[in-house]
Amino acid sequence: MCGIVGYIGHSERAQDVILDGLRRLEYRGYDSAGLAVLQDGKLRVVRTVGKLVNLESALRDVPLGGTIGIGHTRWATHGKPSEQNAHPHVAGTVAVIGNGIIENFHTLREELSGRGCEFKSDTDTEIISHLIDEQRKQGKGLLAAVRAAIQHLDGSYAIAVIDEEDPEEIVIAKNGGNPIIVGLGEGEQFVASDIPTILPYTRTVLILHDEEIGRIRREGVEITTFEGAPIARETRHIQWDPVQAEKGGYDRFMQKEIFEQPRAISDTIGPRLQNEDRIDLDEIELDPGFVRNLQGIQLVACGTAWHAGLLGRLLIERIARIRCDVDLASEFRYRDPLLTAEHMLIPISQSGETADTIGAMRHGMALGARSLAICNVHESTITREANSVFYTHAGPEIGVASSKCFTAQVVALHLIALELASLRGILTPDRLRDEIEALRRLPRLVEETLGLWSHVEAIARKYVNARDFLFLGRGYGFPVALEGALKLKELSYVHAEGYASGEMKHGPIALIDDGLPVVIVANQPSVYQKVISNAQEVRARGGAVIAVVEQGNRDASNHADDVIAVPAAPEAHGAVLATIPLQMLAYHIATMKGTDVDQPRNLAKSVTVE
Ligand code: F6R
Repeated sequence: MCGIVGYIGHSERAQDVILDGLRRLEYRGYDSAGLAVLQDGKLRVVRTVGKLVNLESALRDVPLGGTIGIGHTRWATHGKPSEQNAHPHVAGTVAVIGNGIIENFHTLREELSGRGCEFKSDTDTEIISHLIDEQRKQGKGLLAAVRAAIQHLDGSYAIAVIDEEDPEEIVIAKNGGNPIIVGLGEGEQFVASDIPTILPYTRTVLILHDEEIGRIRREGVEITTFEGAPIARETRHIQWDPVQAEKGGYDRFMQKEIFEQPRAISDTIGPRLQNEDRIDLDEIELDPGFVRNLQGIQLVACGTAWHAGLLGRLLIERIARIRCDVDLASEFRYRDPLLTAEHMLIPISQSGETADTIGAMRHGMALGARSLAICNVHESTITREANSVFYTHAGPEIGVASSKCFTAQVVALHLIALELASLRGILTPDRLRDEIEALRRLPRLVEETLGLWSHVEAIARKYVNARDFLFLGRGYGFPVALEGALKLKELSYVHAEGYASGEMKHGPIALIDDGLPVVIVANQPSVYQKVISNAQEVRARGGAVIAVVEQGNRDASNHADDVIAVPAAPEAHGAVLATIPLQMLAYHIATMKGTDVDQPRNLAKSVTVE
């Protein structure tokens, strides 16, 4: 997850402030770093691969003196970690750093190449530097050039720009789920991708919203819309203690992690989707011959990761047409599984330290299966022992109940399913392109779904005193129902059951009583009618229905007491989108009840005993 820092002031401390800020952003994970400072009116850029110590030692030899500069930690999305791909990117007199993903990167790159631009990196951010440079060459000032350049960008991004020819300002812009804030000082200003980064310098901040541009000068900050209309944004005074600072201004880690999901997903898919027509998954070292001869795939996981596995099975069987089983890791060894060297075993684990998942992986590997782990933690036991690893780049998950790692695991499984299908030659190029395009759109839809926060809070208030909840779903909606019920149990200690909606009549219907809240995952068009008929059965018996549906659905309000509308999307993505309001529902009910959301009683983040 990339990090942005910027400084403009009177004393020559740009380099030191930027390095200090980058250190504070290290927790986000990165693979290279760089900075640009205007020294004696000239842009000076230093970039290095690996940890910040490398950048620091490069600067120790040739320190940069200057009062204005920008710095960046990069987590590779377009192009491998390398000095050329590290930010800042320079074109003409302009230097740019950026977070996020430019979706029309390929088209823009081709257009710019056609106009004679030469690229030094594989990144999408370099495109932005050339677009701005083109506008500068037409005589526009820096602010106007940035405004004109970003009109060409589709995607979600936050950028910061400096320019030799306009040495008195930093220009920043934001769109989509990449935060950027300004810290206001006396005659000096600070830019960063989160508030804690600038807290040692100032507690007065301005937060840039989507589709806004900021011009930052020593004496103050102007914010305008992308179209140029001035915005009077109030400053915020930050009073956090150090622990609150770590939470980035959110009340709890879990809330922060729910809101980090657009970034967790885009960081997980970004490096693997640099091309429009193929997936870059060389890291998982799949041999095409082995994949063609596969007899089956076995997923093993616990808890929330098992729910991701249930979605993974649907994805793998539907997309790659390979038989796929998914087992609770704790049960796997005890059913004498039939794995051979022609099977692939996929353990899924956020921590990489879950004892049952490790045990299941070792058992499957001892039977001859090749293992491909999905994991979020480098150097964990599972990643050390597996034959290969697909890392989810969700960043550290502190809340004990998993949120962003679940959605990152689902997109990881989706990418693996597509890779398997490609290696088996059963995906047409058009289908693959469509899948890639849809995956790239997902972070933005997740961002939009986060807007449901207050709506779901109001629904939570209505049902906060319910003693039991039922969650129902079918197809991709079934694992979502299980996950919604698990989150509610864990966080709020309210009894909740998740069921395949078709199973309702085979037992759980006996539970339905006056006012029992039943959450119906109904945003899957292929099973909508069936799921909604369960809603009717619930209401006929006095239960209260909360339906998660696609935006634009005009029918659900006839069958539900409360409706939560998520963006319309392909069904597999719909599962990710429907999960988010259910995480929110659990979170709100828990906070209203006053339970410890980040550390629910009796639970541990890594379950290292069987
Ligand atoms: C639930 C939750 C747990 C974990 C499970 C597996 O919110 O977090 O159910 O998913 O303990 O943990 P990992 O993924 O670390 O193997």
